Amino acid sequence: MLELQLFLFFLLVCLLILHYLKQLWSIRHYPSGPLLLPGIGGLWRVATGVSHDTLIKLAKQYGNIYTIWAGPLPLVILSGFQAVKEGLINHSEASAERLETPFLRDALKNRGFVFANGHSLKQQRRFGLITLRKLGLGKKGMEQQIEVEAQQLVETLEHAKGQPLDPSLPITNSVCNVISVLAFGQRFSLEDEDFQKLVKAIYVLSKFGATFFQILYDAVPWLMKYLPGPHKKAFSCVEMARSFAKKEIERHKENQTLHEPQDFIDFYLVQMQKAENDPDSAYNDDNLAQCTIDLFAAGTETTATSLKWALLLMVTHQEIQDKVHKEIEDVFGSSRLICYQDRKKLPYISAVIHEIQRFKYIFFYGLARQTTKDVNMCGVHIPKGTIIVPDLRSVLLDSEHWETPEEFNPNHFLDKDGEFVAREEFLAFGAGARACIGEQLARIELFIFFTSLMRAFTFQLPAGVKELRQDPVMGIVTPPQPYKLCAIPQCTI
Ligand code: HEM
Repeated sequence: MLELQLFLFFLLVCLLILHYLKQLWSIRHYPSGPLLLPGIGGLWRVATGVSHDTLIKLAKQYGNIYTIWAGPLPLVILSGFQAVKEGLINHSEASAERLETPFLRDALKNRGFVFANGHSLKQQRRFGLITLRKLGLGKKGMEQQIEVEAQQLVETLEHAKGQPLDPSLPITNSVCNVISVLAFGQRFSLEDEDFQKLVKAIYVLSKFGATFFQILYDAVPWLMKYLPGPHKKAFSCVEMARSFAKKEIERHKENQTLHEPQDFIDFYLVQMQKAENDPDSAYNDDNLAQCTIDLFAAGTETTATSLKWALLLMVTHQEIQDKVHKEIEDVFGSSRLICYQDRKKLPYISAVIHEIQRFKYIFFYGLARQTTKDVNMCGVHIPKGTIIVPDLRSVLLDSEHWETPEEFNPNHFLDKDGEFVAREEFLAFGAGARACIGEQLARIELFIFFTSLMRAFTFQLPAGVKELRQDPVMGIVTPPQPYKLCAIPQCTI
């Protein structure tokens, strides 16, 4: 009996060694990276927590395209402008897919915009881009809606009468309203229980990504399906969000105005009718439900987080805030609403908004992709099916392209005459075949919300507070730590 146990033990050790050697042999196909250890791969290099400094150090050591082995899974990181441009723009088609994990497959079934691939995604994405453009134009376009929301946000902050307040919730509500009108055709009251459940479900899902239980589910989905745990809650949140969207779709079907579609669901229902007899059509209720949820999820926290950083940076950089106020004073005298066209007269503000997005990037790195074929990036071979992670933050902090990358410096986007200059290296919205489809909307929102707030208030630290924390809360999206400021109405200064 003892001999059998020894034999089995010996066999197990041999199998583990063989597995490890096989893995060592297979790394020759991938860019170099931290030494592979049995079981954990290269994760020991980020064992104390993944900070952005660690990723920069790894790029310095192994080059701008390197591999971190997450156990048996190779993650190829593209670091800095040249590598990301090569991966996402020069090899746009080869890097056009998002990664497909068992969790995403089981939860989303290749529906929607963000985590879908192939034919379905191509149809939805093309339709989404055209529809967002249409919704941004016209009399009832999104721009007017944003102006109204910005005015309401100003009024909400005015209620504090210059006393310390946390602007986080009012900002998130305003941005949420913009997307709700765009996707569902209506704002929802904060007391609306179903809407609150939707917001909570999206929050839970955003926190579930890249957690231990998601990794575990992806490793052994056939087992996890039958076990309790946070993955079950994540699935029920997906279901909850989907049923919210489906209810809205039914409401739209009942009141449908085919000749005058007003929101994303209306436009989609028209498209579904047009494609009714097309056997290749991927336009259906399930895809519509997921697309609206994706717009809601991708469009809320992103823009709101940028605005939260914007106010924090104004408070901590008074000299820049003064210049913003001066530009507004010089250009506007009247009290009319601010519109997106006005940005052409406000080059300094345009530069400040871009610099906010660059200096305090809202993603930890970006959204991962997966290669559709073998590809050679900057002379480095990357096999088909490899997960590639474009480190967008490293692009926005790349010392070879930004004069003072670690400094909040709007001059990065100004020429010597003080005119705004767009920069190729500004890849905050990603690039290539899967670039952000909400970029235009986000740009309009950031401009109108920021300029309206700056015209209405001077932002200051509360009495007795010397400084605000500059480090973000870590996650896929990286908002500032909770903070308070005083919004002093401009006319009383
Ligand atoms: C400051 C605001 C925003 C930033 C910085 C941002 C950034 C990004 C980035 C980096 C990606 C991944 C791009 C890539 O892989 O190359 C992305 C994807 C996406 N964004 Fe945005 N985004 C913002 C606002 C919005 C808004 C307002 C919407 C919706 C109206 C939106 C909808 C989407 C969607 C649907 C995708 C997935 C596209 C795809 O996979 O094909 N985003 N965004």
